Amino acid sequence: MSGKFKRYTITSALPYANGPIHIGHLAGVYVPADIYARYLRMKGEDVLFIGGSDEHGVPITIKARKEGVSPQDIVDRYHGIIKRSFEDFGISFDVYSRTSAPIHHETASDFFEKLYEGGKFIVKTNEQYFDEENHQFLADRYITGTCPHCGFEKAYGDQCENCGTSLSPMELIGPKSALSGNVPVLKETKHWYLPLGQYEKWLTEWILKGHKEDWKPNVYGQVKSWVDQGLKARAVTRDLDWGVRVPVDDADGKVLYVWFDAPIGYISASKEWAQKTGNDWEKYWKDEESKLVHFIGKDNIVFHCIIFPVMLKAEGSYIMPDNVPANEFLNLENDKISTSRNWAVWLHEYMEDFPGKQDVLRYVLTANAPETKDNDFTWKDFQARNNNELLAIFGNFVNRTLVLTQKYFDGIVPDADTFDEEAKTVFEEMAAFPQKISSSIERYRFREALSELMNLARLGNKYLTDKEPWKVFKTNPDKVKEILNVSLQIVANLSVISVPFLPFTARKLQDMINLKGLKWADAGRSNLLKAGRQINKVEFLFEKIEDKAMEEQVRKLLDTKKENEKNVAAKESIKFDDFMKMDIRTGTILEAEKVEKTKKLLKLKIDTGIDQRTVVSGIAEYYEAADIIGKKVCVLVNLAPRKLRGIESQGMILMAEDTDGKLCFVSPSEDVANGSKVK
Ligand code: MF3
Ligand code: ZN
Repeated sequence: MSGKFKRYTITSALPYANGPIHIGHLAGVYVPADIYARYLRMKGEDVLFIGGSDEHGVPITIKARKEGVSPQDIVDRYHGIIKRSFEDFGISFDVYSRTSAPIHHETASDFFEKLYEGGKFIVKTNEQYFDEENHQFLADRYITGTCPHCGFEKAYGDQCENCGTSLSPMELIGPKSALSGNVPVLKETKHWYLPLGQYEKWLTEWILKGHKEDWKPNVYGQVKSWVDQGLKARAVTRDLDWGVRVPVDDADGKVLYVWFDAPIGYISASKEWAQKTGNDWEKYWKDEESKLVHFIGKDNIVFHCIIFPVMLKAEGSYIMPDNVPANEFLNLENDKISTSRNWAVWLHEYMEDFPGKQDVLRYVLTANAPETKDNDFTWKDFQARNNNELLAIFGNFVNRTLVLTQKYFDGIVPDADTFDEEAKTVFEEMAAFPQKISSSIERYRFREALSELMNLARLGNKYLTDKEPWKVFKTNPDKVKEILNVSLQIVANLSVISVPFLPFTARKLQDMINLKGLKWADAGRSNLLKAGRQINKVEFLFEKIEDKAMEEQVRKLLDTKKENEKNVAAKESIKFDDFMKMDIRTGTILEAEKVEKTKKLLKLKIDTGIDQRTVVSGIAEYYEAADIIGKKVCVLVNLAPRKLRGIESQGMILMAEDTDGKLCFVSPSEDVANGSKVK
């Protein structure tokens, strides 16, 4: 597989610099990309691993406007935070660039110009909303109005956040400019389009026929469905004043569409790297013997499998990606990760809460990576994987082996004269791991690869437990030399094979056993630690994570949830007549009893002033039946009757509910006659 290629160009999606990054980013894109890059480097391959910040696009301008700062201020802030997080988690980019860099503006601009001059675009003029006060065409997000589907009054020009429908600005009822609040006017504007339809045949040959076997089914399936639906021309320019200027006459106030310029950012970053290091960037992008791999999340598939390749193809001198191993999404505690709802584990906060535990997160995110379907991150699983796997298996085996070596042999690797059957079997099994792991990594199956790493630790753990050197030592110290020699070879192998997955742990472990500079090809050997070598001071690789730390994290999330519930906008407005349809009366509870076999229900008899009627109410968790007799309440009396547990409930008692779900009665504050109207 690797024989075919001379070098590897590995890209990872450029995160938008409009917020910090979270576990979803790490799990979906950067940890797998980093495992891949580290593994290839250990194999001695020529690797260029590229990252950077995506600093253009409308959301950045919106955020800037909200905060009253410039877009450059926003991207400067988050570029710094994001870059730092990547360093913290050991994402081993060869270059981490940004799309506001001059070299990127130049590269993207030249790229556009080349396609423009080659006649690769088509030009179209259409009508678009324009804000006359600000002399500006309005991006879809900058237009609000009433949703034609659900009537929500604050829908955006691209989507209604109430009903989720995607919209076009023309569909909004009563459109308004978010800049001035004015009614925008329609005005003609001209844009350049990439005619994707012209490339359908080529895409079919290249991906649909050429990569049916080696691309992941989720990626292949999306591409197929796009191509099958027929590809429309896509505008690659926008009326906006933040981005890469469109480098042709007649394009004032226009910039390249963010999805046109951002992937070119991979190329600009390569140039930046080449300038800094004195390398040649072009062979990483133009030589057929380079293998280009894009690591992305599933929302980026169309851009990396269709649009960017079409751009590269139109340009003419670039290679195509060999694979695009996109991942699905990671959820958090059963809910979609969301930046705006603050539903995330932010990497910079994790670093504060769990200093030194980057590998634990890398491990959990890989073991539970959303490779084939969306997956869920829970703190319970995080704790269990740390305590029961990293600590109990890997850490425990390494620690026992090294401590026993210190204890019996002053930390010097003992010599073994012979190896018994079990030892030979262990060596044989150990020798098979590197190949298994390579094969998984090269097929982008990182969880499978990681589980094999743990299996090697399990093998060691079991061998040591079965051999019980602490018992054998009293009667046969020579045998213990053999047992510990074997165990130490496994430890050494773990320290090599774990480099791509757990780089911090691997480094720590290699320091302890005095090993350095080992290559992937060394893995599997049973003589990595020569007899006579001195082991350094033994330290723990992992620590137990206590319930208390997990409870704090869960509490943090619950607080977020509460905060969000408080902030939920009021329900949609209703007409006065709608309210007047409700007939609410004051009443008195005459009788109350628990409904059998239910936790929540009380059966009440109420004097409504009009009549006496039965109401079933879900308040039993908060009130004892006996305590509420005589209570004044408000009752919705014209609610259609419904049966609850076989009892007909003829109305509803009004209750107030706080964000914890706690209920209390809404009662008249003074004495009024039953049957008084509430309005
Ligand atoms: N910023 C985009 C996102 O977060 C990814 C851009 S990838 C690139 O979804 F190819 F455009 F760089
Ligand atoms: Zn709607």
